[in-house]
Amino acid sequence: MNKKELKESVQFIESKLEEKPVIGLILGSGLGVLAEEIENPVVIPYKTVPHFPESTVSGHKGQLVAGELEGKQVIAMQGRFHFYEGYHMDQVTFPVRVMKLLGVEKLLVTNAAGGINENFEPGNLMLIEDHINNMGTNPLIGPNEEEFGPRFPDMSRAYDKDLLVHARKCAEQLDLSIQQGVYVGNTGPVYETGAEVKMLRTLGGDAVGMSTVPEVIVAAHMGIKVLGISCISNMAAGILDQPLSHQEVIETTEQVRQDFLSFVKQIVKTLP
Ligand code: HPA
Repeated sequence: MNKKELKESVQFIESKLEEKPVIGLILGSGLGVLAEEIENPVVIPYKTVPHFPESTVSGHKGQLVAGELEGKQVIAMQGRFHFYEGYHMDQVTFPVRVMKLLGVEKLLVTNAAGGINENFEPGNLMLIEDHINNMGTNPLIGPNEEEFGPRFPDMSRAYDKDLLVHARKCAEQLDLSIQQGVYVGNTGPVYETGAEVKMLRTLGGDAVGMSTVPEVIVAAHMGIKVLGISCISNMAAGILDQPLSHQEVIETTEQVRQDFLSFVKQIVKTLP
C-alpha cells in the first residue's frame, strides 16, 4: 500500500469532519439504508476523495457518511469495493486503513450472504464468529508496514469475542432470533455450484459471500475490533431447486431491513 496516498485521503476526510469517528460501518448489498439513520451527516462521495476507488455494483451507493448514530461518532461506507470488480486487494481494503487512521477502534462489517447451513432461512441475520479465506490471495501480501501491524498477524481473534457477546445480548433485548457461524469469502462474481456449496459445508462454512474477508484481515492487522453480520439473502446454490439472482439478494435484504436497522442501532447504542 502507498502510505503517502493513504495519508492524503485521511487528511482530505479529516478536513470535512468536525468530530473523530470511533466506530466504522461497512454496509453491504441492500444494507446501505443504515447510513440514512446517521444524524448531522457529512456525506463524502468516494469519487471526491483522493486515491479512493469508485464503487460499480448496483445496490451500492459509493459514499462515506459520517456523523452521529445513537449518540456515537460513526463513519459508514455506503457500498464497498469488491475484488471481483477488478480492484486490487490494496484498493479493496484501503478504506479500512483510512478508517483506522481517522480514529476508528471498532468496525462493524455487514454483507449479504448465501446460507450454507441448512438450518438457516433467507432473511436470517448471522453473527460472524470466524471466516474462511477462500479467495486464493491475501490483502497483506507484499511489503509489511510495521507502523500498521505485524508481518504475521494473529487471526484467531479477528472477530472480537466481547463484541460477539454484546451483539447476542442486543439480539435478546430486541427478541430477535439470530444465527451465528462461519463466513466463507469467495472471489465471485459467480455464485457457487451445488458441488462447491457441499464442499464449503464440509469445510465448516455456514454462509458464503464475495466480500468481508479482505477487510477483516486488514482490520485484524491494524488492531481494529471487528463485529461481522451477514444477512442471509438466499440459500446457497443447490439447496433449494431454484436459480440464484442478484435481484433475490437485494429483495431479501430489503425485507429484513427493519430487523437489521434496529439490531445495528441497538448494538451501537449500548456499546461501552
Ligand atoms: N453466494 C455468494 N455470494 C452471495 C450469495 C451466495 O449465495 N448471496 C449473496 N452473496
